[in-house]
Amino acid sequence: MVILKSPRELALMKEAGRVVGLVFKTLEEKIKPGMSTLDIDAIVEKTMLDNDCIPAEKGYYGYPASACVSVNDTLIHGIPSSKEILKEGDIVSVDIVASYKGYMADACRTYKVGTVSQRAERLVNITKEAFFKALEVVKVGNTIGDISSTVQTFIEKNGYNVARDYTGHGIGSHMHEDPSIPNFGKAGTGTRLQAGMTICIEPMVLEGRKDTRVLKDGWTVKAKDGKLTAHYENTIIVTESGYEIITMYEGEE
Ligand code: MF3
Ligand code: CO
Repeated sequence: MVILKSPRELALMKEAGRVVGLVFKTLEEKIKPGMSTLDIDAIVEKTMLDNDCIPAEKGYYGYPASACVSVNDTLIHGIPSSKEILKEGDIVSVDIVASYKGYMADACRTYKVGTVSQRAERLVNITKEAFFKALEVVKVGNTIGDISSTVQTFIEKNGYNVARDYTGHGIGSHMHEDPSIPNFGKAGTGTRLQAGMTICIEPMVLEGRKDTRVLKDGWTVKAKDGKLTAHYENTIIVTESGYEIITMYEGEE
C-alpha cells in the first residue's frame, strides 16, 4: 500500500534530505586516495549526528555501519573497513540514509578518487544521467513502469546493464515502503504516481554482465564478472507540478 505524506511528514523528510545533501557536500571535498572506506563511514556518521539525524542504516537488519561504501566492482552494500584503502582511479559509491524525528531520506553518489579512467568516468556519468532521464517521466498519472523502462532503455542503449535483484522504493517513516521501483520494466505498467508520494529512484548499473553475487558477509554485492559498477540515487517528492528532489545540496551538479 502506497502511503501519501502529509505536509508535516514532508517537512521532516526534507530536513533529513538536507542533512544527506550536507554529507555529500562534505564528502565531495574529503574523498582522497589513501583514505579507508571506514574513514568515509566516520564522516557520514559524524555529520548526521551533528545535525540531529540518526544514520538509519546502522542496525537495519543487522547492518553494521552508518554508510554503504562500495568500491569498483562492488555494486551496493559494501561494508566500510579500515583495511580497504582508496587508491587513485577507484570509483566509490556512498549510499546513506538519514532519519530525522523518525522520517527518512536516502541517496547515493559514486565518487571518483583522484583521476579515473575514461571508462570509469563514462559509467559514472551515464548512471547519473539515467536518474535525470527518469525524472522526465515523473508526472502525476504516469506509472512506476514509465520510470523503470526509461532507466533500462537509457542504460542498455549506452551498452551497460541494470541490476535485476535490487530496486528503488518508496520511503518515509520506513526506509523501504511501497511501491518498489525496479530499474527495468515496461512503460505504462504498475502503480500510478500521485502527489504526496515519496520515492527513491536509484539506477544501479553494471559495466559488464547483469549478474551479481553476495559475499559470505551476507551484505556485499559484487558484479559477478568483476567489472565496474556505479549507483546514483535521490529521494524525491511527487508533486502536482512534477517533483521535488530533497537530497541534493544547493549548487550540487
Ligand atoms: N540505502 C540503501 C537503499 O538504497 C539500503 C541500504 S541497506 C542497509 O535502499 F542495510 F545498509 F541499510
Ligand atoms: Co534506496
